Amino acid sequence: MNVDEKKYITAFKKDKITVNGFSLPKKYEQLKEQLDDLEVNNSDVWIVTFPKSGTTWTEEMVWMIMNNLDFQGAQKFLHLRCPFLEESMLIDDTNKLEDNSGGNADNAHSINYLKSLTSPIVVKTHLPFELLPKQIKNNIKNPKMIYVTRDPRDTCVSRFHHARLLGSYGGDLETFCKMFLEGKVTYGPYWSHILPFWQMRRNPNLLFLKYEEMKHDLRKVIRQVSLFLERPLTDEQVEILNQHLTFDKMKQNPAVNYEELFAPFKKNRKIGEEEEKFMRKGIVGDYKNAMSADMIRAFDEWIERNIQNTDYVIS
Ligand code: A3P
Repeated sequence: MNVDEKKYITAFKKDKITVNGFSLPKKYEQLKEQLDDLEVNNSDVWIVTFPKSGTTWTEEMVWMIMNNLDFQGAQKFLHLRCPFLEESMLIDDTNKLEDNSGGNADNAHSINYLKSLTSPIVVKTHLPFELLPKQIKNNIKNPKMIYVTRDPRDTCVSRFHHARLLGSYGGDLETFCKMFLEGKVTYGPYWSHILPFWQMRRNPNLLFLKYEEMKHDLRKVIRQVSLFLERPLTDEQVEILNQHLTFDKMKQNPAVNYEELFAPFKKNRKIGEEEEKFMRKGIVGDYKNAMSADMIRAFDEWIERNIQNTDYVIS
């Protein structure tokens, strides 16, 4: 598939590098050594995802379970509660780093911020397994890890809107989809990210979740996660958390809906209604409303090709 990238790509293309075949934000280079050598705590919980797979949803669930449903504490911005490991690569200096550091300039660097917190903490990252800290890769430390995935067709559409919201991509969906299929969207190739975790899914320290399962029966997933984290919940607590985590509730919750963080990106730009929110639609199968029949066919072939020698199923 030939993609005329130059025609469309702005910073989205310019700021990327390739590491071990993965397309990563350029600032990864500056952090690589510190990321590799990070001292990992066994009591922390790591949430690892390909972007737009339900990361925020899972972070809020896990943080609440780890913190005994502390609704008061949960009013703090999610980014501060669940540090984003490689964040300083993603949000540039002019923007929100100071806010994310809790007002402390020394903490502006995401790794320093993470180190300043007291374990157990919930860590968020989009890095693929092979780029996680050496202590995790080499099985020296075994924090609990939750890997969340989502139908790549929905992930792609969600990511397209997100990139447009941030102003990092100015092209059309068709071209974006082609880049996604070619593994050129940041953190891609998609399957190289997903399948290693799928192969590890029976590891007792790994819980492999799917966005679609969360949509289908969130209570069940809440119970599953609480057992995995060894933080059992009463039926009443499951119900309370289930309510708290609905799309409508999260959309209205300033601590998790990213409205404030993304406000500067929206200034002086005309973007569609649908793209104006981080909490956009929160549904399964939205790709059917967005992609052309040809594009859906291209995705289906690509999925088939990539899972044919595995027992992976989309949802
Ligand atoms: P859409 O763009 O399809 O609406 P991430 O947190 O990994 O960036 O994923 C963001 C996606 O998860 C967005 O998808 C967002 O709307 C969706 N999402 C966030 N909270 C959700 C919730 N409580 N229920 C369902 N979907 C949710």
